[in-house]
Amino acid sequence: MVKRVTSTPPVLAGFTYVRPLGTGGFADVFLYEQDMPRRVVAVKVLLNDAINPEVLRTFNTEADIMARLSAHPSIVTIYQASISSDGRPYLAMEFCPDTMSARYKKAPLGVGEVLDTGVRMAAALETAHRAGVLHRDIKPSNVLVTSLGSPVLADFGIAAAINAEGGAPELFAMSVPWSSPEVLAETVSGSVASEIWSLGATLYTLLAGRSPFELPDRTRNTRDQLSARVAKAHYTPVGRADVSEKLEGILARSMSKDPAKRYESMLAFAEDLRWAQYELGIPPTALEVAATEWAAASSPVDFADAAPRGPVITTVNKDSRRAARAQTVLSRLADEADGVTAGTRPSAGWRLPAVIVVSAVVLVGVAVLTLKLLGVF
Ligand SMILES: Nc1ncnc2c1ncn2[C@@H]1O[C@H](COP(=O)(O)OP(=O)(O)O)[C@@H](O)[C@H]1O
Ligand SMILES: [Mg+2]
Repeated sequence: MVKRVTSTPPVLAGFTYVRPLGTGGFADVFLYEQDMPRRVVAVKVLLNDAINPEVLRTFNTEADIMARLSAHPSIVTIYQASISSDGRPYLAMEFCPDTMSARYKKAPLGVGEVLDTGVRMAAALETAHRAGVLHRDIKPSNVLVTSLGSPVLADFGIAAAINAEGGAPELFAMSVPWSSPEVLAETVSGSVASEIWSLGATLYTLLAGRSPFELPDRTRNTRDQLSARVAKAHYTPVGRADVSEKLEGILARSMSKDPAKRYESMLAFAEDLRWAQYELGIPPTALEVAATEWAAASSPVDFADAAPRGPVITTVNKDSRRAARAQTVLSRLADEADGVTAGTRPSAGWRLPAVIVVSAVVLVGVAVLTLKLLGVF
């Protein structure tokens, strides 16, 4: 992807901007500090020039899917979503200090950690699939690492309904190194089987330190050369001494050229990874998948909702009576702060002359009446 300049971080009430975290196709991600409760949060903001009904629809969907799936321990937690004062939709989520992409580029991961990550991601994806959602962009940079060190699935930016029929135009994820042959061929834009391929390719990458169809000679990894190799889907073993035959077999099966030969579900994939853990004497990672009856209890995500959604207006209108009342209270408080207490406020300047004039008029009236009664005139 072409690198572009990061957009200006928006001013968000209750949040203080800290630094940029990442850039993507339609959005930037920034680190902010939230005031209450006090914590750091990652804020994903849509680019100003990217805002159109289709992008708004996917952004609404991303926020809704995250909210729907956030309770899962291996899916990044969303805190809130709204529109910034300059009109850009944003979503605030749990800040994750690391990504699996950064990790494997430093050094390949240990087998134990890769198996654990695999079971967690498969469980997160099984939960998403049961909720009718396909992620469609599974790759190391979308597996973040929380401040407690656990891997979490992020970036539902191009997620789609499992049974999408008509409606929105299909978007093809094009992260070539982790895309299945059928997605690269644009035969399908996503399916459970293609997600299984992408998770397998992601786990392979963490173990090998490079994606499965990349060659150590970097000059031979153009987009076209990579695509051609993915299309053939010839599996090359990771070849590490500590990667068991069982694990090579699991990865090879997840990346079978024929989608029907892969695991039939993320659950089946996770079960096999847990067998590999067991055989290595590692306690199998708990398989956290929402029970079907619970999943059915929450409302389904509306993938078609492109309506702009906005913040609740909390500012007080300048001309309102409430504003006037607030102004009175404020000036009284200011007076009090100046040492003038409410009980000793001097009377207004016009009162004394008024009393004199009224008294004079009354006195003259009484005098005239007395003289008249005495028969003076
Ligand atoms: N919650 C987060 N905490 C820390 N960094 C994040 C978080 N979410 C995203 N990022 C960073 O921003 C990048 C882009 O975010 P992502 O949601 O993947 O958007 P895109 O759809 O543009 O890929 C990520 O690869 C990651 O480096
Ligand atoms: Mg991403």
